[in-house]
Amino acid sequence: MKNFKRYLVTSALPYANGPVHIGHLAGVYIPSDIYVRYLRLKGRKVIWVCGSDENGVPITIKARQEGVTPQNIVDKYHNIIKNSFAQLGISFDIYSRTTSPVHYKTSSDFFRTLYDKNIFEEQVTLQYYDEEAKQFLADRYITGTCPHCQNDRAYGDQCEKCGTTLSPNDLRDPKSAITGSIPIKKETKHWYLPLNNYERFLREWILEGHKEWKANVYGQCKSWLDLGLQPRAVSRDLDWGIPIPVEGAEGKVLYVWFDAPIGYISASKELTGDWEKYWKSEDTKLVHFIGKDNIVFHCIVFPAMLKAHGEYILPENVPANEFLNLEGDKISTSRNWAVWLHEYLEDMPGKEDVLRYVLCANAPETKDNDFTWKDFQARNNNELVAILGNFINRAIVLTDKYYGGEVPACGTLTSYDEEILQEIPRIKKSVEDNIENYRFREALREAMNLARLGNKYLADTEPWKLVKTDPERVKTILNIAIQISANLGIVCEPFMPFTAKKILRLLNSDKFGWEELGKTYLISAGHKVNKPELLFEKIEDSTIEAQLLKLENTKKSNMANEASIDPQKSSVTFDDFSKMDIRISKVLEAEKVPKTKKLLKLTVDTGIDKRVIVSGIAEFYSPEEMVGRQVLVLVNLEPRTIKGIESQGMILMAQTSEGKMVTVKPAEDIITGAYIG
Ligand code: 2FM
Ligand code: ZN
Repeated sequence: MKNFKRYLVTSALPYANGPVHIGHLAGVYIPSDIYVRYLRLKGRKVIWVCGSDENGVPITIKARQEGVTPQNIVDKYHNIIKNSFAQLGISFDIYSRTTSPVHYKTSSDFFRTLYDKNIFEEQVTLQYYDEEAKQFLADRYITGTCPHCQNDRAYGDQCEKCGTTLSPNDLRDPKSAITGSIPIKKETKHWYLPLNNYERFLREWILEGHKEWKANVYGQCKSWLDLGLQPRAVSRDLDWGIPIPVEGAEGKVLYVWFDAPIGYISASKELTGDWEKYWKSEDTKLVHFIGKDNIVFHCIVFPAMLKAHGEYILPENVPANEFLNLEGDKISTSRNWAVWLHEYLEDMPGKEDVLRYVLCANAPETKDNDFTWKDFQARNNNELVAILGNFINRAIVLTDKYYGGEVPACGTLTSYDEEILQEIPRIKKSVEDNIENYRFREALREAMNLARLGNKYLADTEPWKLVKTDPERVKTILNIAIQISANLGIVCEPFMPFTAKKILRLLNSDKFGWEELGKTYLISAGHKVNKPELLFEKIEDSTIEAQLLKLENTKKSNMANEASIDPQKSSVTFDDFSKMDIRISKVLEAEKVPKTKKLLKLTVDTGIDKRVIVSGIAEFYSPEEMVGRQVLVLVNLEPRTIKGIESQGMILMAQTSEGKMVTVKPAEDIITGAYIG
């Protein structure tokens, strides 16, 4: 294996259009913090850079929604994100931002270098343009009808209802999300990075050279490469971002995915005068921590940019994680379906390591995983309290009780003692192997095995039973328990730095280096430990219920929003309207349509006649509830045959904020057959 002199670790720059949530943490920031803390403990030379991603359309959309400037948005969220990371102990060497002057210059120069090397292709294409707003429309700024599911609120890049990736040309009836007007197509020039020219290099570098990458990352790269790469535009028509530094590019900025990864370079420049050593020497190990949606940019686009530039090294690994869901649903910033870090820190003071622990223990390393508050509670109560907290507490309490806190001397070891102690270097090796191969869940499980080992040792040797009969033996047992505790103070540091600190404080000890892990004489006989204190406390049901209630409320308000924000449909003439014949009707009979879940067959009296209508309301009303009910019926709807039954009309319904369909009734008693208009 290659011997690297230094490490350059990067973590995806979070968009400064919202706070950070548990999905970000589990996917990117907790694993990278563990990795870097471990490297530092091992005494390796490492810099770890990150910062806010502050350019691009996501920022301008948020600004528009909040009615403020993009600058206001990035200032607000940059501060929230930066502070919450710091509070959780995420120990970046620098947390910068892509609106910094150094970044503007670095990315501008980067573009210029590629431009001067004639790397880019220029293309003139037709793009949607809003004549009222006098601007080209980013894909997200175009809404229309999804060709797949007919959702009339699909975006130019994606339909959020059916999840299909779209391009603006796919949308039917496109509208500008800025003014609501119908956009025209207008010519515009952009610079394209010809990824196709880098296909051979990328195939060789990744598919031949990096077979050791995680299966999910390697697999995604392979499918991109197998599909064949196309040139990608690296400029945009937008009034927020880094101006394209060439003549004739007024009003155009760098595409955010062009400048964002360069943010890693800019942040390194801001951090250290030595940055070139990190970015330009082959003996630096560059590792990008990201989520799976960023794989193509970090494994294909950015490496092609670096290669085109010519001066920079390429990543050695890109250990991308999959996604974390929340209580069974996809985390979504726009739908507020998330556990936000800054809110967690406020709601659960002193429980930073509980979150770190749970998110690492349940990290989506190989597949999407689910975060649930019940699991959070169980892991805290059954693992942190019952295993780690319990062991450290017993070791300190017994030392305090029997020896006034003075660590007793270790006597002759039994073969069982030796067996136990031999486990510690094995655990150390396993934690190391797992961390170095980006298997953080397994590394954490092994670290916890040390606490399990300690508990087993005390349970097997039962010092509290021997204290009268064999005091010498008790001294040895407690000496060993204290040594295991000190080892836990080391091994926990990358995962739970606050807890590691507390353990060392209880032991009244300074911090150890990683090389001390596995040693069984870390704390000398006669050393005085501090008074016992609990490391973790049980989390009660009421705490969990409060969090679940918060989510429940989010769900309700989302449904209410969705119900109330149906945009107005396009205009109809009075004649169109008067063609509709809507009558007060009464349901006479109702029954379920066999072999269907949703359909009821209703016989209704419309005042004109008695007729059959098939209606998709079986989920909301039983047949019994419908009989005798007054309803509104569109009687002149063309008959349709549904499940073999001819349906002659439609019952008009309204949707509640919970998504339930309900019948609509007149405010006063009205005879059957009365006309509505
Ligand atoms: O997906 C995201 O949140 C992006 N802001 C990540 C950017 S990573 C890097 F390239 F800066
Ligand atoms: Zn759709």
